[in-house]
Amino acid sequence: MGGFLLEKNMKTITTPSFRKLYAFGKKLPLDLSLSENPLGCSPNISMVLKQLTETDFFDYPDPDCLQLKSALNKRFRIKAGCIFIANGSEAIIKLIPQVLIKPGDEVIIPRLTFPMFEIASKMSLGKVTISEMLPDFSIDLDEIKSKINKNTKLIFLCNPNNPTGKTISKKQLLDFVRSTSAIVVVDEANIEFGGSTLIRESNIFRNLIVLRTFSKGFGLAGFRIGFCVASKDIIRKFERGSQPFPVSTVAEKTAIAALADKDFIKMTKKFMKNERSFISRQMRKRGFEVVDSQANNLLIKIPKSFKRFSQMLKMKGVSVVDSSSFDFEKGIFIRVSPRLRTINIKFIQIIDQIIKTR
Ligand SMILES: Cc1ncc(COP(=O)(O)O)c(C=O)c1O
Repeated sequence: MGGFLLEKNMKTITTPSFRKLYAFGKKLPLDLSLSENPLGCSPNISMVLKQLTETDFFDYPDPDCLQLKSALNKRFRIKAGCIFIANGSEAIIKLIPQVLIKPGDEVIIPRLTFPMFEIASKMSLGKVTISEMLPDFSIDLDEIKSKINKNTKLIFLCNPNNPTGKTISKKQLLDFVRSTSAIVVVDEANIEFGGSTLIRESNIFRNLIVLRTFSKGFGLAGFRIGFCVASKDIIRKFERGSQPFPVSTVAEKTAIAALADKDFIKMTKKFMKNERSFISRQMRKRGFEVVDSQANNLLIKIPKSFKRFSQMLKMKGVSVVDSSSFDFEKGIFIRVSPRLRTINIKFIQIIDQIIKTR
């Protein structure tokens, strides 16, 4: 009987799934869709992998990832009790509403941002309020403020924002966090490419969660490791909701090595700035509007006169992210993640072929 009731209840609740995301799409030969680091990862990582011993495979990992927490503490001056480490920052995005809101609590999310914020909030039965963007595609903090009410428990921001690459200044963000009692999540997945971090400020504010990942600038997407920093209270809640061994020993070791290689991050930032400028310049020359980005994504508007633009790219073996992945109408814009120069040149050549067939 109990089983029947459970099954019946499950059927009445239809929650969204992460699997609908573009991240699970098939990659085409010329891939500018997912924003992994085109330079790969630090050479330190292959050293770590060569030095692994059998116990790294046989033994369970450290559930608290104390060595990585100690490395993060040295780098950012954050106490171990204020750090939570997980199997990619996606795992934390899913956990945040699970442990911090009740069904029906309100969550505010900008219209154009990482789709997982909305999916995760709805999975936990949060009531999502969408806040519109400014005309230049920036996140409109005043508009978000105007939507806050006594039921607002969570606000997701992304800095730099995915898919626009736009940043919000540290002062604006801190003023915003100060102005509300709702918990503000600042996802800094792409911070190694541009923008100023709030990671140290998470020591001061009780309503701030700063999310970071090793998948982007550090180039370790395959290892699945991310972390967040927040007040001890919030971190304790995450720990209660976490798996016993969230991160593998190998992932923890590679993350420590990646963190130590500051030169690789500097090189990545410089490389991405050049490639971003290259693609932006080339696309603007051809009459496309490209949003000014400080990160590893470029939002390119598709003129109305181009019919089926992303389908044409697909037919020519190019994968980009179409606006429909962000719940916009198909073909309004594409998100392009710059790759190595040879690939970026091929991309522009294909754009020229499409222009000719217009
Ligand atoms: C803004 C943002 N947050 C989080 C993630 C997920 O990162 P991770 O690989 O750590 O799960 C991504 C990945 O695309 C992202 O763009």
